[in-house]
Amino acid sequence: MKRIVISGGAGFIGSHLCERLLREGHNVVCLDNYFTGCRENIEHLLDDPNFELVEHDLIDPYHTEADEIYNLACPASPVYYQHDPIKTIKTSVLGAIHMLGMAKRNGARILQASTSEVYGDPQVHPQPESYWGNVNPIGLRACYDEGKRCAESLFFSYRMQHGLNVKIIRIFNTYGPKMNLEDGRVVSNFIVQALLGRPITIYGDGSQTRSFQYVDDLIEGMVRMMASPDDFLGPVNIGNPGEFTMLELAGLVIGLTGSGSHIEFKPLPEDDPHQRRPDITLAREHLGGWQPTVQLEEGLRKTIAYFEELLRKHGVRA
Ligand SMILES: NC(=O)c1ccc[n+]([C@@H]2O[C@H](COP(=O)([O-])OP(=O)(O)OC[C@H]3O[C@@H](n4cnc5c(N)ncnc54)[C@H](O)[C@@H]3O)[C@@H](O)[C@H]2O)c1
Repeated sequence: MKRIVISGGAGFIGSHLCERLLREGHNVVCLDNYFTGCRENIEHLLDDPNFELVEHDLIDPYHTEADEIYNLACPASPVYYQHDPIKTIKTSVLGAIHMLGMAKRNGARILQASTSEVYGDPQVHPQPESYWGNVNPIGLRACYDEGKRCAESLFFSYRMQHGLNVKIIRIFNTYGPKMNLEDGRVVSNFIVQALLGRPITIYGDGSQTRSFQYVDDLIEGMVRMMASPDDFLGPVNIGNPGEFTMLELAGLVIGLTGSGSHIEFKPLPEDDPHQRRPDITLAREHLGGWQPTVQLEEGLRKTIAYFEELLRKHGVRA
């Protein structure tokens, strides 16, 4: 049994990771300030004696014992990370320093949840880890993109200077149950709009593509990365290479929900990447043949069922 700290454990991805690691018999400490996460996501775990929930803001240091640390704390949706851009940078940078400090004191392994956003608006397609990216350092998304890029640098600096056992994954667009109802990311937006019979908003002409990874595939990749040999640090892309236009996604969601919603087009926001698709060769090679197994339609069905139930609970839908 390991003692595993998960920062951002009450969020969408973090709460799935808490469940998975508890199921494996580990002791899990969840650190969160509930900015975008919520107690509801992990409430069912509170009776488990192996689960500890600590309300903590990662911009302040925190000390506890740990064998492994997953650093996930950071708002991931543009609506939230742009709300207070300075705080977003502090969370990424100071949060990484504080978690790396904890790893150093404990001799723990530490994994950073980085992002495909480090590639910015990529000029190489699909994106391999060797691509250094095309990021606007002063744009609207910079607080998130550059914060995450700095965190990657910090992880490698702690490795070089202190020999820490670090791991970096670059997560591509992930969706699934437990996403925040008002998350603002495309999959949850489309599903909630369709279920409520509201217009489905597409920014731009809908021809821009994204890849969508179901959360279970990501969690499997994360756990395999943490268990990988010491000399494999990453960064490694974890995502689903299937590529869909926004129009295709909207069509699928309308079909699966049986919604009468129509599509409404709005201007494209600044620095919106045109295409994003992971090259997952490295993950396949180093993570025991890891690859996504959940098809978009299957993942969407599960996510739609979750949002239907959530909207019912909130009394917004019969
Ligand atoms: N979901 C995706 O598609 C995706 C893609 C790339 C990277 N990621 C990364 O994965 C991680 C988790 O993302 P998610 O989708 O679960 O988002 P999320 O917003 O649901 O989870 C983030 C969690 O971090 C917590 N948090 C934020 N600031 C904090 C602070 N200062 N101190 C303590 N806790 C704080 C939030 O309350 C929340 O519980 C993030 O680091 C994100 O950048 C996610």
